[in-house]
Amino acid sequence: MWIVNVGLEKNRTYNLNKFFFKSVLKKKPFTKVKIATSTDEKIAWHDYKSKWISNKSSRQYGHKLRSISQAILTTSKTVLKDDPRLTIRLKKTLEQHIPIIIIDNNLKIPMKSKILKDISKKRIIIFTSKKNKKSENLIKLGCEIIFCKLNKNKKLNLKNIFSKIYSLKISELLVEAGGIFFTELLNKNLVDEIHLFKSKIIIGKHGKPAIVGKKLSQLNLSLNERKKFKDDIYTNYQVN
Ligand SMILES: NC(=O)c1ccc[n+]([C@@H]2O[C@H](COP(=O)([O-])OP(=O)(O)OC[C@H]3O[C@@H](n4cnc5c(N)ncnc54)[C@H](OP(=O)(O)O)[C@@H]3O)[C@@H](O)[C@H]2O)c1
Repeated sequence: MWIVNVGLEKNRTYNLNKFFFKSVLKKKPFTKVKIATSTDEKIAWHDYKSKWISNKSSRQYGHKLRSISQAILTTSKTVLKDDPRLTIRLKKTLEQHIPIIIIDNNLKIPMKSKILKDISKKRIIIFTSKKNKKSENLIKLGCEIIFCKLNKNKKLNLKNIFSKIYSLKISELLVEAGGIFFTELLNKNLVDEIHLFKSKIIIGKHGKPAIVGKKLSQLNLSLNERKKFKDDIYTNYQVN
């Protein structure tokens, strides 16, 4: 009996301090992936159009998720395809800034991206392996560039990047990117929670998948929360 109580107490404490335990123990940020999918688990159409998969109420909740995170992590590809602002817009008249981290190995993000606007008001951190004129220009503009070596697959080492992010005192991260990056994070055990907004839209087999080669139901997940935003179903899962 006593042992059971200790177990319960341990569990409760763990839940209360999950960010602390996960990030301090792993020395990596507690990482939440926010993803909006169609019923058939696509995140974009074949031509990469991806706006408005989820409804306005879901998107509003997405802003709340941003507001309770310390930084947003995205990819150059998502910046190129969507040109997102990645700001917090909880009220119509107020736009708040949050640090943004971009995985941009080849420094593809256009200098005119919306993400680079109002740079004096926010922190932009770019991970890349390229040291060139563009990296100089991005630094001049006010971006922090973190140069990394490529691994043998000619990719950036995401585990090292996450450790670096943690060392920058960012211990709670919201990922907003596409399925290719999400799949890489899952394969490297770098995802702690999935915040899924599933809409009634069906995109079809040519759409871009949420996870490459897998369905969400094939992951080892525990349900934290489930609610409806009008027609969209929101589920928060813990990744085990
Ligand atoms: N529905 C949603 O919730 C949602 C959210 C965000 C974005 N989107 C949409 O998703 C689409 C893009 O998705 P996607 O799956 O094609 O792309 P993605 O996952 O956003 O980005 C993939 C790219 O990230 C880079 N990358 C990933 N791992 C890397 C590593 N280890 N080292 C270096 N670079 C790495 C590579 O870029 P390089 O090409 O530079 O090598 C790769 O091509 C867009 O249409 C976007 O609008 C949807």
